[in-house]
Amino acid sequence: MAGCDDEDVGGPDPVAELVRAARRAREHAQAVYSGFKVGAALETADGRIVTGCNIENASYGLTMCAERVAMFKALSEGHRAFIRIAIVADTDQPTPPCGACRQILWEFGGNLEVRLANLTEDKGTYRLDALLPLPFDRRLL
Ligand code: THU
Repeated sequence: MAGCDDEDVGGPDPVAELVRAARRAREHAQAVYSGFKVGAALETADGRIVTGCNIENASYGLTMCAERVAMFKALSEGHRAFIRIAIVADTDQPTPPCGACRQILWEFGGNLEVRLANLTEDKGTYRLDALLPLPFDRRLL
């Protein structure tokens, strides 16, 4: 259904709501090859949540990470400014965004707050510039 994962942040704790949205999004992951399901939720500057999950393919290289699915959905729906992203996997160690996702998040989200969590616990908070030092971006073109 169009826009069904767009929701108001709402509630007294928007970060907790964002993490819950990422956990719910993870349940939609298409990860039959790796078995590694990831959910992501982006908070927009105007207080919306846009979610994503990883989508794998028999042609493995076509796989798309949860973070990029969320960002591409958000951009395609007209969102242009973002506050933070929550990323969830069912692991004890935190699951940080891969290099490709860091680049895409930097391009379109700037110095986002990155919240890592598993199904039950927070696993750390970072700024994207700490995860992607010395980025290549439009300032260098
Ligand atoms: N994956 C994500 O969706 N996000 C991450 O931050 C790490 C990796 C996915 C890609 C692939 O479907 C699976 O996890 C294993 O790499």
